[in-house]
Amino acid sequence: MARQARPVLVPPLVASVALLVLAFSSLMPSSEAYDPLDPNGNITIKWDVLQWTPDGYLAVVSLYNYQQYRHIQSPGWKLGWVWAKKEIIWAMNGGQATEQGDCSKFKTIPHCCKKDPEIVDLLPGTPYNLQIANCCRGGVLNSWAQDPANSVASFQVSVGQAGTTNKTVQMPKNFTLKAPGPGYTCGQAKLVTPTRFFSPDGRRTTQAHMTWNVTCTYSQFVAQRSPTCCVSLSSFYNNTIVNCPTCSCGCQDNKPGSCIKGNSTYLSSVVSGNNKDSLAPLVQCTSHMCPIRVHWHVKVNYKQYWRVKITVTNFNYRMNYSQWNLVTQHPSFDNLTTIFSFNYKSLNPYGVINDTAMLWGIKYYNDLLMAAGPDGNVQSELLFKKDPNTFTFQKGWAFPRRIYFNGDNCVMPPPDAYPWLPNASPRVMPSLLLPFVTIWIAMTFLMV
Ligand SMILES: *[C@@H]1O[C@H](CO)[C@@H](O)[C@H](O)[C@H]1NC(C)=O
Ligand SMILES: *[C@@H]1O[C@H](CO)[C@@H](O)[C@H](O)[C@H]1NC(C)=O
Ligand SMILES: *[C@@H]1O[C@H](CO)[C@@H](O)[C@H](O)[C@H]1NC(C)=O
Ligand SMILES: *[C@@H]1O[C@H](CO)[C@@H](O)[C@H](O)[C@H]1NC(C)=O
Ligand SMILES: *[C@@H]1O[C@H](CO)[C@@H](O)[C@H](O)[C@H]1NC(C)=O
Ligand SMILES: *[C@@H]1O[C@H](CO)[C@@H](O)[C@H](O)[C@H]1NC(C)=O
Ligand SMILES: *[C@@H]1O[C@H](CO)[C@@H](O)[C@H](O)[C@H]1NC(C)=O
Ligand SMILES: *[C@@H]1O[C@H](CO)[C@@H](O)[C@H](O)[C@H]1NC(C)=O
Ligand SMILES: *[C@@H]1O[C@H](CO)[C@@H](O)[C@H](O)[C@H]1NC(C)=O
Repeated sequence: MARQARPVLVPPLVASVALLVLAFSSLMPSSEAYDPLDPNGNITIKWDVLQWTPDGYLAVVSLYNYQQYRHIQSPGWKLGWVWAKKEIIWAMNGGQATEQGDCSKFKTIPHCCKKDPEIVDLLPGTPYNLQIANCCRGGVLNSWAQDPANSVASFQVSVGQAGTTNKTVQMPKNFTLKAPGPGYTCGQAKLVTPTRFFSPDGRRTTQAHMTWNVTCTYSQFVAQRSPTCCVSLSSFYNNTIVNCPTCSCGCQDNKPGSCIKGNSTYLSSVVSGNNKDSLAPLVQCTSHMCPIRVHWHVKVNYKQYWRVKITVTNFNYRMNYSQWNLVTQHPSFDNLTTIFSFNYKSLNPYGVINDTAMLWGIKYYNDLLMAAGPDGNVQSELLFKKDPNTFTFQKGWAFPRRIYFNGDNCVMPPPDAYPWLPNASPRVMPSLLLPFVTIWIAMTFLMV
């Protein structure tokens, strides 16, 4: 068993800076719009006016998900805006407005006459004559790192009463993106250099008449969501299992139906009963009440390596998580040697610290995290090479610094509850904070 814990030396100045940083960070809401692990993450909406029509134009609107690990899963995105003038939508391909609105003034019936239309994707299996490229995935928009080929969605729209020159056409206002709930905030549309399109053989270029872009960013704070996942810990060197903190995602109240006992006999009737389309999770009764638990087990200690087992468990009866992903931060990701049965990508937002990794399932094998029940979990093992300068089992070093599931921060147990090495001192609090402090300092300096 390795016991080569080394004291981490922190000069007083750095320490006081660290304290300041800690003080400030505790004042900020933990779920600010800015995501330090994906600082440039955004969804960009690009609107290309391709052709003039008798009273307007034909445009292709595309959503590019430039977020590394946050995706939009079923039931999918909804894109809304407010027209600047009296525009209407004559027709659409690859998408549809959810409501037609009042078209009573028209002899030929438009697709949508609302001042503030809301567009959804079409479903897979839509007839070919209504499809366009990158459409018809039921609003699912995968993340850039995980599935770049499916991180773009497009629809085509024929706009009337819009003006037919680049001087008379006006950009819509107040874009909204729902996923399908709140969380995204969109900026104003900006005119940009018209998009250029290349013919398949690359010998001819065409370009849009006009192009404008809108950028939308996500914030867990705006989404007003309580946490959706929590972390539990265990190790081979201590048989204590540190469970998720009680009430991480909510507390069990005595209302019937607020959660479901795992062995409930009427489970299937409740799950398939009414509210089936509800987005609210229907979770198994646990002390943490989270739909997702991530368990990090320090499994084996070899001479030059150490091994971790990660288990993700779904406690939500109402959700199969397709294309799920985890983001984990631990200094040893610099020395990751092998990962079994998950995909891996190193996220390196600041170009220096290589301690953050994105993990996700292998297609058709474990990329679908099934609803709560015997199949509702996925597992992987990671083999890390020991770096003698940093490696230790003491003071909770072997446990992750933070974990995200599908882009949402998971609730961690308090550091003083981590399993310790037998005969280690229980009073480890101050030094236990050092790794966190170091990360904070590094991040703060890099962010400036
Ligand atoms: C959106 O993301 C892309 C890709 O990361 C980036 O190039 C662009 O600058 C971002 N836009 C904004 C407004 O942050
Ligand atoms: C509109 O078209 C004219 C002539 O092609 C061009 O000079 C001008 O820059 C365009 N304006 C915009 C806003 O695209
Ligand atoms: C657009 O949003 C702004 C700010 O939220 C609001 O003041 C304005 O009334 C909205 N415009 C329309 C047409 O809804
Ligand atoms: C507009 O969005 C497209 C697609 O994301 C991107 O390629 C282009 O660079 C953006 N233009 C500007 C000026 O941000
Ligand atoms: C369900 O499990 C709980 C605790 O595990 C037990 O007390 C209860 O009797 C079980 N109910 C049934 C119907 O098996
Ligand atoms: C999850 O997927 C399985 C198999 O595809 C399906 O039988 C089940 O109904 C799905 N559950 C939910 C809640 O969508
Ligand atoms: C980060 O570490 C991993 C595993 O050692 C390595 O594969 C990857 O190339 C590193 N990335 C950078 C940017 O250094
Ligand atoms: C672990 O990674 C760090 C940073 O890349 C490197 O300096 C160190 O030599 C690596 N340790 C081992 C044992 O590979
Ligand atoms: C295991 O860790 C817990 C703290 O989580 C501690 O209370 C317990 O004493 C440890 N067990 C041993 C055998 O050291």
